[in-house]
Amino acid sequence: MIVGVLKEARAGENRVSATPATIEPIRKLGYDVVVDSGAGVAAGFTDSAYEAAGATIGDATAADVVLGVNAPSPAQLDGVRPEATVIALFAPAFDPEMVEDLGRRPFTALSMDAVPRISRAQSMDVLSSMANIAGYRAVVEAAHTFGRFFTGQVTAAGKVPPAKVLVAGAGVAGLAAIGAAGSLGAIVRATDPRPEVADQVRSLGGEYLSIESAEVEVSKTGYAKEMGDDYKAREAELYAAQCREVDIVITTALIPGRPAPTLITAEMVASMKPGSVIVDMAAANGGNVVGTVKGEKVVTDNGVTIIGYTDLAGRLPAQASQLYGTNLVNLLKLMTPGKDGRLVLDWDDPVQRSITVVREGESAWPPPPVQVSAAPAAAPAAAETAPPKPKKEPMTPARRFGAVAVGALALFLTAGFAPAALLPHVTVFVLAIVIGYYVIGHVHHALHTPLMSVTNAISGIIVVGALLQIGQTSTVVTVLSCVAILLASINVFGGFAVTRRMLAMFNRS
Ligand SMILES: NC(=O)c1ccc[n+]([C@@H]2O[C@H](COP(=O)([O-])OP(=O)(O)OC[C@H]3O[C@@H](n4cnc5c(N)ncnc54)[C@H](O)[C@@H]3O)[C@@H](O)[C@H]2O)c1
Repeated sequence: MIVGVLKEARAGENRVSATPATIEPIRKLGYDVVVDSGAGVAAGFTDSAYEAAGATIGDATAADVVLGVNAPSPAQLDGVRPEATVIALFAPAFDPEMVEDLGRRPFTALSMDAVPRISRAQSMDVLSSMANIAGYRAVVEAAHTFGRFFTGQVTAAGKVPPAKVLVAGAGVAGLAAIGAAGSLGAIVRATDPRPEVADQVRSLGGEYLSIESAEVEVSKTGYAKEMGDDYKAREAELYAAQCREVDIVITTALIPGRPAPTLITAEMVASMKPGSVIVDMAAANGGNVVGTVKGEKVVTDNGVTIIGYTDLAGRLPAQASQLYGTNLVNLLKLMTPGKDGRLVLDWDDPVQRSITVVREGESAWPPPPVQVSAAPAAAPAAAETAPPKPKKEPMTPARRFGAVAVGALALFLTAGFAPAALLPHVTVFVLAIVIGYYVIGHVHHALHTPLMSVTNAISGIIVVGALLQIGQTSTVVTVLSCVAILLASINVFGGFAVTRRMLAMFNRS
């Protein structure tokens, strides 16, 4: 079969559905590839680059499998052969007219934005890969418009405070924005009605602002639900206070199947400092900010810029095309079980069923729901997995007294009968055990590696001491010295071996 890569018809679309790098894996599946002339130019991929990758330049609409980013234009769809399969972002959930139009056509249409968000389909999840890029780009747009440093600096010419960034919604796009803003040096805060994202926010260096409301609970599906009045009142208070303080607001809040919630009111925008920037990433779904103009950048009377671009991922076209193309390759791998260049639609596979809008001219939309759970699976009850561990009983006072008495007796006998020269050594030894137990036992796990280097130094001292003792006195001392050298050497050389392995993990090559 032939796979065709369309030149995007939508004005302003810079992405392309395959890059020269994704042509090779498509060909490995047994397909020939035809690319529309100039299809990748806006993303930086020339026709000759596609040809070098093994594709031919020709009419992509005439192929057996037609790949696009956006829904092809009516003229392009008219050129598609009846037995062909068209794969693109048709947005059937939001565009009933498109579903109706496709239903009148004889071919099969698959929509990449309908990939169910289940673990097995992650490699095909276009919404996530595009949201990730969009979150990053939102920060780049904000930084460009802000016109000041994100990072704080102390220079000879004066002190520059770090920018403060608030991210509303910590899903895929929000987390990407938190990571990008943090890496530029900004102070980043984020909030989300799903409390389970708090650790994810912190792991990216952000501060999680929790909203104390009885409605807040760990999401059962991994997605947010419409919140009640109590939560909305409390989040409004938080946003009002934050807007007065922060320089940048990036909103990403969405609730599946509903218009985007309004989070930032006109009064909150009016309270922001002149020069502040808001990026409303929910602009395409109605916006989270009052005053957002879909697809536009506007400046309010008090000098706040509101960016409502809906093509943020497309503003990094080479990267977006590469990730989108890789998502498509993964779908083609799933649908080409024989790796023989033949596309097979498995109707029983929930992923393939979910993305099918039209199957050989028959409307297949909407698909049956798939149980989507983006939330981490609850840990199985301990009782189900392992027998309960016997609880360690604390030592009774009598046993503790007995242990101390035995220790004191041993010390007394040693002091009474051992040679006088041994006593200071025993004292140091016992003190070392006690102090070592309490000091090392309280060292944080993160500091165990530096601690290891200290123990290496101690091992070095032991080796030197043991070497000095060998052959000096009795055979017993010589044997003990040899044992000490062996054990200390294991610690020293083992430490080097472990460190080497750890460093190798960070070696790019
Ligand atoms: N294949 C998979 O398993 C898969 C794929 C994608 C995403 N996910 C997970 O699904 C979850 C949702 O991700 P998403 O980016 O698609 O979400 P989304 O685009 O539907 O929503 C964006 C964020 O807005 C938040 N939000 C909703 N109302 C809000 C409000 N009033 N104030 C602030 N924030 C609000 C949501 O909780 C969400 O985090 C994440 O946990 C993500 O990791 C899983």
